[in-house]
Amino acid sequence: MINGLQDRVKLNNGIEMPGFGLGVYKAEEGREVVDAVRTAVDHGYRLVDTASFYKNEQGVGEGIREASVDRNDIFVTTKVWNDEQGYDETLRAFERSLDQLGFDFLDLYLIHWPVKDQFRDTWKAMERLYDEGVIKAIGVSNFHVHHLQNLMASANVKPVINQIEYHPHLTQEKVKQFCESEHIRLEAWSPMKKGRIFDDPTITEIADRYGKTPAQVILRWDVQNHVITIPKSVTPERIKQNADIFDFELTQDEMNQINAMNQNDRTGMNPDEFDEK
Ligand SMILES: NC(=O)c1ccc[n+]([C@@H]2O[C@H](COP(=O)([O-])OP(=O)(O)OC[C@H]3O[C@@H](n4cnc5c(N)ncnc54)[C@H](OP(=O)(O)O)[C@@H]3O)[C@@H](O)[C@H]2O)c1
Repeated sequence: MINGLQDRVKLNNGIEMPGFGLGVYKAEEGREVVDAVRTAVDHGYRLVDTASFYKNEQGVGEGIREASVDRNDIFVTTKVWNDEQGYDETLRAFERSLDQLGFDFLDLYLIHWPVKDQFRDTWKAMERLYDEGVIKAIGVSNFHVHHLQNLMASANVKPVINQIEYHPHLTQEKVKQFCESEHIRLEAWSPMKKGRIFDDPTITEIADRYGKTPAQVILRWDVQNHVITIPKSVTPERIKQNADIFDFELTQDEMNQINAMNQNDRTGMNPDEFDEK
């Protein structure tokens, strides 16, 4: 378990990545995302999660360049979008993303969603980029167990990460257990259910007990569950608040109470039913 904002976890390919970071979905390209990334990095964040779909990769790169930390000390994730999948398309999409970010290498590249009949070819292109050394690690997002099994049947490189929707109302136990057994790290997207879970009495009661906010309790629960978490905020006080979770510890009983809140309730699409366009 990580004990600080800059603590790293080891991935199955030997690379280490920070266990806590900033998500930037819906952070607007331009000043908004630049300022959010710079604020986070200057505050100690070392992981930033973007995607070509978010249309803010340029601002993410800019924010990192504006911050007072060397680019090599920041771990950046981006993702190949659904209409960029397939072998040649993925190679081109990667070049575009790298160009937007203004980087000469990427830390982690993910398949954003498992587009049927294409994700295996997408993966082959990612394996090539990984072998060439321009990406340090490759992984997937929104993969169910059957998608992972399908991918791994023809893969030379195992995904290091599966980034899935994960919060107290959606704990995805089957995927979590499978990933743990395969040494694929779980990473939580929408860890705070996009702000729709803060009023839950189980959470507020625990928060009051520690003098913490509901957001902090939920993010602490991720950390203690060994799930990498990437809360999004463009608000400086929240960016700082969200990271201030390393000075308290939930008891096993409190962890069990939050684990028991699962309702299989998604804010996003089910990976078996998503719109592939
Ligand atoms: N792989 C995928 O398919 C996928 C899908 C969705 C998201 N993601 C990734 O996961 C990241 C996080 O998910 P998300 O952005 O959907 O949702 P989230 O992190 O669960 O929630 C973000 C929302 O909560 C607000 N917020 C942040 N900290 C708060 C606090 N301490 N108190 C009150 N409100 C707070 C933010 O507002 P402000 O920004 O206004 O402060 C924003 O509206 C994304 O940014 C993205 O990087 C990946």
